[in-house]
Amino acid sequence: MGAPFPGKNEEMRASRLSLVLVSLLPFLLAACGEPQDTRPGQPVAHRKAAFKEILNAFEPMGVQLRDEGYKPDVFLAKAKELDSVKDKPWSYFQADTNYPPTEATDKVWSDSQQFEHDRQAFIDATSRLVVVAQSKDIKQVAPAYEALHDTCRTCHKTFKK
Ligand code: HEC
Repeated sequence: MGAPFPGKNEEMRASRLSLVLVSLLPFLLAACGEPQDTRPGQPVAHRKAAFKEILNAFEPMGVQLRDEGYKPDVFLAKAKELDSVKDKPWSYFQADTNYPPTEATDKVWSDSQQFEHDRQAFIDATSRLVVVAQSKDIKQVAPAYEALHDTCRTCHKTFKK
């Protein structure tokens, strides 16, 4: 007579194997997708993460003005959040950091004066939005937000793929 449940061990082995595969999945996907930033200090990964923080503060303000309706206190909090992360990406644009998976164009390094000019315009527009958001007057806030948005677009046109 064999074991009372002949298939049991095989079943357990199979389910353990599928657990291992599931836990490996993120690594397999990462390996197939974008190249990872393997350089010391990971400057490209850091600046991308910093721009995501900028977006996370910036985007909800636009959603308010376009769709949800203006909520002055939440808007002001988001403007301040943006202000606190606005300086994060820039120190990661060192020389020799133009490599995959970057979306920066060569011009960041070949036209660094213009890049610095566009960066300063963004910093100034962010500071101005924080001041204007304290008025809680949508007639002043909406154009200040648009002016800030223009600084993202202007820089991306030349410096982001
Ligand atoms: C002075 C130039 C400049 C300004 C201003 C700027 N960006 Fe960017 N942004 C870049 C560059 C360059 C990259 C590409 C970075 C890389 O991939 O190495 C980028 C990338 C991004 C990314 C992609 C991040 C990722 O996951 O790869 C987002 C999102 C983003 N920017 C949002 C914004 C928003 C929102 C603003 C304005 C509130 C803004 N940026 C202002 C230059 C700028």
